[in-house]
Amino acid sequence: MSNIIHLDTERTSYILDVLPTGHLAGLYYGRRLRAMDDYGPLRQKNVVPYGTMVNVSQEHKNIGLDDQCLEYSGLGKGDYREPAIELVFADGSRTTDFHYDSSRTYSGRPGIEGLPSALGGEADVQTTEVMLRDAERGLSLVLNYCVYAKYDVITRFATLRNDSAEPVRVGRLMSAQLDLPGGSWNFVTFDGCWAYERERNDRPVRPGIYVNDSKTGNSSNRHNPFVMLTSENCAEDSGECYASNLVYSGNHAEILEATYQGKVRLLTGINPSGFEWLLEEGQTFTTPEAVLSYSATGLNQLSRNMHRFVQDFIVRGEWQRKERPVLINNWEATEFDFDKRKLLALAKEAANLGIELFVLDDGWFGKRDDDTSSLGDWTVNEKKLPGGIAGLIPKINSLGLKFGIWVEPEMVNEDSDLYRAHPDWSIATPGRAPAYGRNQFVLDLTRPDVRAYLIEAMAGVFSQGNIEYVKWDMNRNISDAWSGALSPERQGEFHHRYVLGLYEILAELVRRFPAILFESCASGGNRFDLGMLCYMPQTWTSDDTDAYARLSIQGGTSYGYPQSVMGAHVSASPNMQTLRASTIETRFNVAAFGLLGYELDLTMLSPFDKKAIKEQVSFYKAHRTLLQFGRFLRVPARLGADKTIWAVVSEDGTEAIAGLFQGSAKVGRGQDLLTVPGLEPGAAFAVRGRPQYINVKAFGNLVNRVLPVKIRGDGVLHTVLSSHYMFRMATEDYRANGDLLSDYGIMLIPQFSGTGYNDSVRIFSDYGSRLYTVEKIGGDHMISMVTP
Ligand code: GLA
Repeated sequence: MSNIIHLDTERTSYILDVLPTGHLAGLYYGRRLRAMDDYGPLRQKNVVPYGTMVNVSQEHKNIGLDDQCLEYSGLGKGDYREPAIELVFADGSRTTDFHYDSSRTYSGRPGIEGLPSALGGEADVQTTEVMLRDAERGLSLVLNYCVYAKYDVITRFATLRNDSAEPVRVGRLMSAQLDLPGGSWNFVTFDGCWAYERERNDRPVRPGIYVNDSKTGNSSNRHNPFVMLTSENCAEDSGECYASNLVYSGNHAEILEATYQGKVRLLTGINPSGFEWLLEEGQTFTTPEAVLSYSATGLNQLSRNMHRFVQDFIVRGEWQRKERPVLINNWEATEFDFDKRKLLALAKEAANLGIELFVLDDGWFGKRDDDTSSLGDWTVNEKKLPGGIAGLIPKINSLGLKFGIWVEPEMVNEDSDLYRAHPDWSIATPGRAPAYGRNQFVLDLTRPDVRAYLIEAMAGVFSQGNIEYVKWDMNRNISDAWSGALSPERQGEFHHRYVLGLYEILAELVRRFPAILFESCASGGNRFDLGMLCYMPQTWTSDDTDAYARLSIQGGTSYGYPQSVMGAHVSASPNMQTLRASTIETRFNVAAFGLLGYELDLTMLSPFDKKAIKEQVSFYKAHRTLLQFGRFLRVPARLGADKTIWAVVSEDGTEAIAGLFQGSAKVGRGQDLLTVPGLEPGAAFAVRGRPQYINVKAFGNLVNRVLPVKIRGDGVLHTVLSSHYMFRMATEDYRANGDLLSDYGIMLIPQFSGTGYNDSVRIFSDYGSRLYTVEKIGGDHMISMVTP
């Protein structure tokens, strides 16, 4: 009897089988296959045993579970790889043995109680539920496969049900297990630390075990839950690759095991480390949802699958598809040192520049003049802001700006009224002084009273007037995990219950305030994940606002997440985190590939910067739909190292914006080829360099070579001139056909290389950059690619 389950998306197939032993096998996941009468060709031929094999039954002497591609493995029956499930029964035994029972397929999908999950109605998604049973122990396990055919995405989650008469301790219950039959793979992870998040790291997979995880209580800046498996020669536009992400904001683990027999297993789910859940008789436990995708045509396609999925099924609510406002945030401008006058001056300048939203960051409440006090006391500091938030908002609104506010609800300072009133609300272990992080403690969200308090406290903050945006921050990792609300045998549930508590609060606040645009933040990108994005449609990508560093941070993030969820701000130069100097134009050009904001003291700008910013904001607004929601592509730079090209292309390929970014300038290698993939092949396009300005200060004594008048470099006149004179970057205006631009590119005018300057020389220097608009102008232009 055949128990084949063949799931198809537009370009992929996922096929399940049942082994003669009754175990559920993963037969295939990859390029789409037609349904077959006989799946024999795909099956492993178990005709002789292998050495040191353990066979589950004498009936099947040649089948050892250790060398099969399985869908959900346990312990104790001869599969010695990392398991998906680990249980401890009342008698202390740990062996589990789940066999295929039945399956059913239906249109639509279920939600997951207490956890966020992807959206999708009957027209978008079809679900196959596979029921497994461990008959001897009275347990059932339902594996859910939600197939988003048009997106080439399949999501998975598992529900364990304890139908036995005894409680079971769950030590591990992963969301998905993906076993592949072998090949040469790279395990690609996105790692980092504060202010340097999600750097791409490729590791060739050798036999062994690799763990990508977080134990910080949040999804972490160390290792993002988004991971990839890429084939040896996989590139942006070619090669096979798989992606996995998790709709979860807590401790997660992606465990990869490769065996000498050539099998590769990827597990993703709640981190088993530090986790234990007591499952009483009759109870169920459902895992967070894993999101899987496959591309046979390289990483850009894989990212595209993830981006569309995130935009359509993870982000939700009023802001899902709405263009996001250009904002000014006062944090890097003032930090804690502000008053009403300063804020209004900043807002006024922002309004003049075309900015649309004013965000008041940390420091507006309690007596918070630094980070040692007041978290927990969400009442306005009247000394700084006489008349309160309620008084400030109309003033901001009357300038034509929306008003937004920062909160960090999950935290408490020892020096706060909240801590003094409820010391037991903050996380600590009995008999030990808790560890500090940024002088603060974390509130125990596993407690219902804390959650109820926080919902009302935040509802109060958000109701102080016309608040249209909220930045929800979380600035320390959890330590000393323990809760007075949980019995000793349930302390292993702490971290997961914290996340469930957080989700309960977020769900309620988002329900009460559907019109507010929420941006989540955790010291920058310490909780950048699909779980948070189910409640808050955007995330502050990183506390590092340096443009060059952002190429790596936003570039790394872009593998799994669309630009429409990434906050990206222009800040001061030299940069506050790296002390690197970069031009106002480059800072904008990088931030334009995200949700644009400004985070610097606008009242200190030179006339040069003001004019540049004004033009940037209006450029961004004019192209906002494309920049925020267009198809984002990382373009392999064919010429020149230390160059990055990004492009956003409209769905129909008739319009694009590309950015060319340079690291350090190199003489003699100033030739650049601009490639813009994804354009309509038969159409002709106009490619124009965005009008950009160069500050003549950058030329020092060379200023006289580029200026019509002679002045002393670095003299007073030079300084005065530099802040007023808008020296334009060379005009760039090209015509080319779509296929040429997409498949090869256009050779740009050369960069300045010390041998002369005229109108056709592009000045880039270190960290130079330019945006290019690409617009369809009609039918064929001139040269086309000849495709054999
Ligand atoms: C964190 C955030 C910053 C800022 C500060 C305020 O570091 O990531 O953007 O809000 O907190 O304290």
